[in-house]
Amino acid sequence: MASFLFFNAVPSLPSSRTTAAFRTRPTSHFQNRFGVRCSYAEVTERDDSNPATIDVVADVKTERVVVLGGNGFVGSAICKAAVAKGIEVISLSRSGRPTYPSSWVEQVNWVAGDVFYVNWDEVLVGATAVISTLGGIGSEEQMKRINGEANVVAVNAAKDYGVPKFVLISVHDYNLPSFLLSSGYFTGKRKAESEVLSKYPNSGVVLRPGFIYGKRRVDGFEIPLDLVGEPLERILRATENFTKPLSSLPASDLLLAPPVSVDDVALAAINAISDDDFFGIFTIEQIKEAAEKVKV
Ligand SMILES: NC(=O)c1ccc[n+]([C@@H]2O[C@H](COP(=O)([O-])OP(=O)(O)OC[C@H]3O[C@@H](n4cnc5c(N)ncnc54)[C@H](OP(=O)(O)O)[C@@H]3O)[C@@H](O)[C@H]2O)c1
Repeated sequence: MASFLFFNAVPSLPSSRTTAAFRTRPTSHFQNRFGVRCSYAEVTERDDSNPATIDVVADVKTERVVVLGGNGFVGSAICKAAVAKGIEVISLSRSGRPTYPSSWVEQVNWVAGDVFYVNWDEVLVGATAVISTLGGIGSEEQMKRINGEANVVAVNAAKDYGVPKFVLISVHDYNLPSFLLSSGYFTGKRKAESEVLSKYPNSGVVLRPGFIYGKRRVDGFEIPLDLVGEPLERILRATENFTKPLSSLPASDLLLAPPVSVDDVALAAINAISDDDFFGIFTIEQIKEAAEKVKV
């Protein structure tokens, strides 16, 4: 969504025989560290019957973010948060537009397509960031494919199209022993992570949440995961000083890693695309902190 500001200033100029005309030059873009693109006035001289007119046209464009899996549980929270921040959002998923009505849904450009076969021209041209929520569980092969290969394909497409930022929603390792981390889910995630960090060494972001709670929509119904997740998060945070000594035990984080709300994951992703200094791997705690920054 591009917003255009138009300033028409008529200052009282000192006596002069020429008029300075400040006009939009669409190609003169710059990007500041918050990702706002501006094209601004170019000075040209012209003979004008009204020597005291200065037109200033400023074109301020917001971020244009592509959310892979924007109609999923985490993806829809990201789309909603991005829309609320005035960010232009494009979602890519096989099923495309969600069926439930909501005002933010109307403001997202829904592209129906499979990440393995999509024509990237339809989604990535002009994008300033990609956020991938691609992932899931299933057979070993399916998990390797959707958590790993699908994201590798997406990272490389984003890189080819010159998209400057890539954010991956990955997963906490729960302190699991290595034989459990060798499942297709975790090997896929780690493969995707290393692709992000190698192709985007100075801007790539990997968020590693544990259990994510919120309202998950399944077949038209809302499952209120927050009824369990929210109190559990509070209890685990309140007791973390006592439970810390246990955290060195293998798999202890299955019980001790605090859940995080889907809105916090979404806000951390929004923070990632608006802060150039935010890159690398982020833990559950750091996701929470990043979300707080955006809330302020
Ligand atoms: N939920 C949690 O508690 C949790 C915890 C930690 C990490 N995570 C990670 O967070 C990410 C998001 O999880 P989630 O719970 O939001 O998953 P989800 O609801 O299943 O969303 C996955 C999204 O990916 C899309 N998708 C799947 N295959 C695709 C393909 N080939 N091409 C294009 N789009 C495709 C799905 O839409 P279509 O089916 O319409 O294509 C959907 O929009 C995952 O990577 C997951 O591993 C989740």
